[in-house]
Amino acid sequence: MILVTGATGYIGSHTVVELISHGYSVVALDDLSTSRASTIDAIESITGVKVPFEKIDLKDKAALLKIVGKYPIDGVIHFAAHMAVGESVLNPLKYYENNLCGLLNLFHFMDQSGCKNLIFSSSCTVYGEVNKVPVTEDFPTQRPPSPYGNTKKIAEEIIEDLAATNKLKSICLRYFNPIGAHPSGLLGENPDNMNNLMPLLLKVASGKMESLKVFGNDYKTRDGSCVRDYIHVMDLATAHVKAYQRLAAKESAVAVEKFNLGSGNGFTVLEMIHAFEKVNGIKINYKIEDRRPGDAAEIFSDSKLAAEKLKWKTERSLEDMLSSAWNREKTYRQNELR
Ligand code: UFG
Repeated sequence: MILVTGATGYIGSHTVVELISHGYSVVALDDLSTSRASTIDAIESITGVKVPFEKIDLKDKAALLKIVGKYPIDGVIHFAAHMAVGESVLNPLKYYENNLCGLLNLFHFMDQSGCKNLIFSSSCTVYGEVNKVPVTEDFPTQRPPSPYGNTKKIAEEIIEDLAATNKLKSICLRYFNPIGAHPSGLLGENPDNMNNLMPLLLKVASGKMESLKVFGNDYKTRDGSCVRDYIHVMDLATAHVKAYQRLAAKESAVAVEKFNLGSGNGFTVLEMIHAFEKVNGIKINYKIEDRRPGDAAEIFSDSKLAAEKLKWKTERSLEDMLSSAWNREKTYRQNELR
C-alpha cells in the first residue's frame, strides 16, 4: 500500500488516480488546508475504488504516529507542502515549519512503519538561476530565489543525509510547470491559486478577472515574454507511478536519484495565451506589466534521464493541456453555481 501525502492537492490527486489505475492500493493523507475533502469523492467516482483518507497535518507528529501500523505501508509519495512562492517570501517561517518539520515527522513515521521508499515532490527551482538551457540533472543546485524553493533544496539535502544511513531510498522528482487536468474535469488545480499563470488565465477566460498581467515583454526571448516548460499533470502523475515502480523494484544502484520532469519544450507567456485562445475559442484580455522579481527569462528541461531510467516521456500535447484545463474550469464553475 502507498501512502500519498497531499493527496487531495493538484498533483497528488491526479497521482492517486494513476496509482489506482495501475493496480496500487492507496491511503490518502491531507490536512485540507488548501484543498477539499470532496476531492476524495471525485477520485472514487473516477476510479470506482474506495480510498481510505486520513485528515492529518504532518506538523502534528503525534497524530501522524498514531496511524503507524494501521495500514501496511510499503512506500510514501510525499506531496504535502505549501507552494506559493510570493507568500513564502512574506512568511518564510510558515514555509520552513510546514515543509521541513512535516518532512521530518514523515521520516519518523516511515522509520516506525519499517518503510524505506520515498518519492519526493521537488521542483526545478532547486537549480536556482540557470545560465544555460535545457537543464540537466547534473547542473549544480543553488540557493533558490524564494524560501519555498529553498525548502525543496533543503529537503533534498536532508533526504541525501538519511539515505546515507541506509534508512531511506528515494527518488526526487524535479517538476517544471505542471498544468492541465484529468479529462473528467473532476480534478484540477485549486482555482484560488493566485500565483501561477494557468489558474489566472482561467480566471480571465471565465470572466472572474478582467485581464491577465503579463510580467514583462522585454526579456531576450522570441517575443520578449518568459519561457517555461509546461507539462500535463497527467503525464506528471504517470511519472510518479514509474518512479515508484523503479524504487520498489530496487532498480537503482544508488540510494537517491533525481529526475527532471518536463516536456523539453519551452513556450513563452504570450504563446500560451494565444494557444489557449486558439484551442478553446476564447479571447483573453491581457496587459503587459513590469517584470516580476525573481523570474528567470527562460527555463526548460532536458528529461532524457527520465526517459532512459524511468521509461517515461510526456505524451500529451500543449493543446491537451489547455483544453483539459478549460474543461476543468467550466466543470468547477458550473458546480460552484449549483
Ligand atoms: N506569469 C505572468 N502573469 C501571471 C503569472 C505568471 O506573466 O499572472 C508568467 C511568469 O512571469 C512566468 C510564467 O508566467 O514567466 C510562469 O509563471 P508561474 O508563476 O506559473 O510559474 P513559475 O515558472 O514562476 O513557477 C514555477 C512553479 C514554482 C517553482 C518555479 C521554479 O510554480 O513552484 O517554477 O522556477 F518554484
